[in-house]
Amino acid sequence: MGSAQGRAGSILARLKGGIDLSFVLGRSYVGLSIGASSVKLVELRKKSNSWMMTAYANIPVEEILSDQREVVNAANVVFAIQEALSASKVRAKEVCSSLVGSGVIIKNITISVNNKKELEDQVYWEAEQYIPFDINDVAIDYQTIRETKKNEFEVVVVAVKNDYIDQYLGVIEDAGLQTRVMDVEVFALQNCFESNYTVPPNEAVLIADIGAMSTKVTICADGAPLFTKDAPYGGINVTNEIQRELKLPTFVDAETLKISETLPQEVAEIVSRMCHVLGTELKRSIDFYNASNLGPPVSAVYLSGGGSRAQGMIPIVQEYVGVPVQIVNPFERIQGDPKKMSQEYLDSIAPEAVIPIGLAIRARDKT
Ligand SMILES: Nc1ncnc2c1ncn2[C@@H]1O[C@H](COP(=O)(O)OP(=O)(O)OP(=O)(O)O)[C@@H](O)[C@H]1O
Ligand SMILES: [Mg+2]
Repeated sequence: MGSAQGRAGSILARLKGGIDLSFVLGRSYVGLSIGASSVKLVELRKKSNSWMMTAYANIPVEEILSDQREVVNAANVVFAIQEALSASKVRAKEVCSSLVGSGVIIKNITISVNNKKELEDQVYWEAEQYIPFDINDVAIDYQTIRETKKNEFEVVVVAVKNDYIDQYLGVIEDAGLQTRVMDVEVFALQNCFESNYTVPPNEAVLIADIGAMSTKVTICADGAPLFTKDAPYGGINVTNEIQRELKLPTFVDAETLKISETLPQEVAEIVSRMCHVLGTELKRSIDFYNASNLGPPVSAVYLSGGGSRAQGMIPIVQEYVGVPVQIVNPFERIQGDPKKMSQEYLDSIAPEAVIPIGLAIRARDKT
């Protein structure tokens, strides 16, 4: 395991394409997302110019993370990663994994310098002002988004608490794997989206992954993340409300009711409330983005994550955001291995597979 600074160099997703000379045909790339409700593993292979998903596993977990996403049950996380490896029959030993939550700070800042060489020093100096943790306790990385005018650069800075990185690296290592890249979930979301869709450079899209514990939001245009947010609201909040309002004995009872095909009226109302909360949240993000003149107008909203399956989600969110809303299809351009995966199977896993696919793509970027 490298030093904190060494690891810092690999936190950030590559935001713009570049020439990759290290492409090895047939090599596999593995993405691992440790989520609040499940551990997901994806293996991709590059086939001429396109991607093929050759393995996928989604292993449910319970209460492995605290509300702040600290790993509170390491043994169960290790077990779930090993289960995912054996269920998917993935033999690779290196993965790209991700972090999200209050231990991760992502900030776009504009920096003026006399010449580009000064940029790095200046970024670290300026970043200190935005980081609510002791600078000695965090790993910092940044990526230049664009030169706004001569010698003025917009950069996205990522700071992650070292002890938080160590917890995740630790469970991955204990499961017998090495972390090649530690990415941030919103960048994985963007990476997967951009590998499947083309958006004109003068338009922005909002992509939101509605998970169990939080909703990861990014507004991006022309390959650059212009606004990002981790809203602490997801499927667990809804299940808790169902359990409380219907006075059900366990969380699992409420979860089973929530994801059933026909929802009892009271449950449907609670789920619909969730859709309104998310619609409000996404509208607020777009309003902030517009008011701050962060980039071109948002022309569409894309949703992913298990929470995007909630009944009524698309029309309700659309009422709030006023632009077309659809579910991200990670298999728009990425193929599933036809020997192992039917179209029906791919459709059934799509929303939850988006972030781990983005991570696997990123694993190749770093080769
Ligand atoms: N049909 C459905 N209706 C409503 N919610 C659903 C449905 N199916 C799954 N979900 C919810 O999706 C959530 C799981 O989604 P996902 O796997 O993307 O989350 P996660 O990655 O574990 O969480 P996080 O990203 O916050 O760490 C659960 O809260 C689950 O209840
Ligand atoms: Mg998730």
